[in-house]
Amino acid sequence: MYEKIQETASWLRERMPARPTTAIILGTGLGQLASEITDTTEFPYKEIPNFPVSTVDGHAGKLIFGKLGGRDIMAMDGRFHYYEGYSMKEVTFPVRVMYELGINTLFVSNAAGGMNPSFKIGDLMIIDDHINFFPEHPLHGKNFPTGPRFPDMHEVYDKQLRDLADEIGREKGIRLMHGVYVGVQGPTFETPSEYRMYHLLGGSAVGMSTVPEVIVAHHCGMKVFGISVITDLGGFDVPVEVSHEEVQQAANASQPLMAEIFREMIRRCN
Ligand code: HPA
Repeated sequence: MYEKIQETASWLRERMPARPTTAIILGTGLGQLASEITDTTEFPYKEIPNFPVSTVDGHAGKLIFGKLGGRDIMAMDGRFHYYEGYSMKEVTFPVRVMYELGINTLFVSNAAGGMNPSFKIGDLMIIDDHINFFPEHPLHGKNFPTGPRFPDMHEVYDKQLRDLADEIGREKGIRLMHGVYVGVQGPTFETPSEYRMYHLLGGSAVGMSTVPEVIVAHHCGMKVFGISVITDLGGFDVPVEVSHEEVQQAANASQPLMAEIFREMIRRCN
């Protein structure tokens, strides 16, 4: 595994145009931000040695190097989901490569089902914390020397970055909610009872990604910031049907606001 990570990192190092310290992972239907990156050099996943290949609609599947908010960044347009059949090692492989390339700050985005009664479809939720409901742990097995065997998890989502996002939201009049992201394996959306259960357990939104990558990033000592786009609502009195297309549409509509927050944060941090 370690050799593969090294091999991929050196392949990219020989080809990447700059040495970014910030990376972004774009979630379902949230790839529009990619079009705002300038001076781009792109690598489709299928061309990168050892990279898994993404299979879901709405995931372009490429690594982009370029500039955003006046800084060098790298972005994953399309991520690898556990429900697609990838192992946790594959899902988190790109984050390990990022670490080898010198990334110290990771921005993640996802589409999620809102369970907090004050949420509306299209809301942006700053992830304050998460609950890991995946059946396999991304750090299962021999410990990587990037971090301790038993990592502390008391502040996985960097408080300063969350505060910065709030400041930008206030300035720009963007409604920003806060909450706890529950990471589940999918691919089923939740039953009404499951939404209610996750909410009772302390979750504000539920989705099928993010937690594995964030755990590995945290284990590598990266600062992490995450936003969930609330694309559907569950657990309320009237059960609402949800489809992948609706999730993509709702994510689409909120993309410009999320892009604005990310861009402005990148401009102002470091
Ligand atoms: N549940 C799980 N994953 C999701 C949801 C949901 O309601 N919406 C978008 N991704």
